[in-house]
Amino acid sequence: MKKRMISGIQSSGTITLGNYIGAIQNFIELQNEYELFVFIADLHSITVPQERKTLQHNIRSLAALYLACGLDPEKVTIFIQSEVPQHTQLSWILECSTYMGELERMTQFKDKSRSQADSNMNASIGVGLFTYPALMAADILLYDATFVPVGEDQKQHLELTRNLAQRFNNKHGDTFIVPEPIIPTAGARIMSLTDPTRKMSKSDPNQKSFISLLDPLPTIAKKIKSAVTDSDGVIAFDPENKPGLSNLLTIYSVLTKRSIADIVLEYTGCGYGKFKGDLADIVVQTIEPIQQRYQTIYNSELLDNVLDAGAQNAQRLANRKLTKVQNKVGLGRKRK
Ligand code: TYM
Repeated sequence: MKKRMISGIQSSGTITLGNYIGAIQNFIELQNEYELFVFIADLHSITVPQERKTLQHNIRSLAALYLACGLDPEKVTIFIQSEVPQHTQLSWILECSTYMGELERMTQFKDKSRSQADSNMNASIGVGLFTYPALMAADILLYDATFVPVGEDQKQHLELTRNLAQRFNNKHGDTFIVPEPIIPTAGARIMSLTDPTRKMSKSDPNQKSFISLLDPLPTIAKKIKSAVTDSDGVIAFDPENKPGLSNLLTIYSVLTKRSIADIVLEYTGCGYGKFKGDLADIVVQTIEPIQQRYQTIYNSELLDNVLDAGAQNAQRLANRKLTKVQNKVGLGRKRK
């Protein structure tokens, strides 16, 4: 039997080249070898303020992008998180055995709560942003997933998931599989194009810092060509001293599947202009076919059918696990 994998992406904006390289590209490669579940983490996205119509669009858009990028619904179960209520049900049970200290240590919480408080837009931070890692643990543990393909920023959440699974198993007997992250060796952390010391993120207020998969193609080329690099003009991979150029070399390498050493060799002696121009072409060539498929899929009935079937399959498994958990904890009623 194939081993199971699960992963999700938040529907909090159009996904970026970072999401594509750190996560989606791997989903596509792994879909043949594993039983893969991929979902749209809409419940996670409401941990920060969202506008109703935009959220509805982003959910459907992400589902369409999964297919447009090459996820095959014949092989992969694709579903919307909020359409499988067992996620929130298990999440509550896990929250009750998650320690405050564990959640306080989560770097993503620290970063996001800081940026929300800074933005003045909403100085009050929702409790959901704090408890979110327990919901993420539920997303994974419901499905007996052995592996979770994610980018590097999710490593800490995966460690918490493993701890919560082990804690539950120790107290109640073997219930959950303790999952392992699968983090790509290259491209697990694509950096911002305007500040290469920070991660590329779809929620960055500076549009030039990230490439969205739905950006107009000329904009994509422009963003790559104007990405921040250094001024010494030497093509070399050195993330510490040349973070901007090293980030671009990483993107070049993962999209062409060529080694960084080989690319450095090719461009030795060339200026950054030629290198960036070629990279812009490569990124555009990667994204163009995705955009061509996207619009038709977004408007199709097929997408609804895929999501209906996905929710049904996910619910079936999730319900089985939830019932087992509730029973072990002693919730509900024992019939006479
Ligand atoms: P999210 O939506 O922030 O990101 C989705 C996936 O993309 C990866 N990623 C990146 N990889 C490389 N470079 C980047 N700059 C970059 N930015 C994002 C992330 O590591 C992730 O794999 N909490 C999760 C969503 C989630 C989830 C889950 C994932 C909810 N439940 C269960 C796995 C399993 C999140 O916020 O990802």
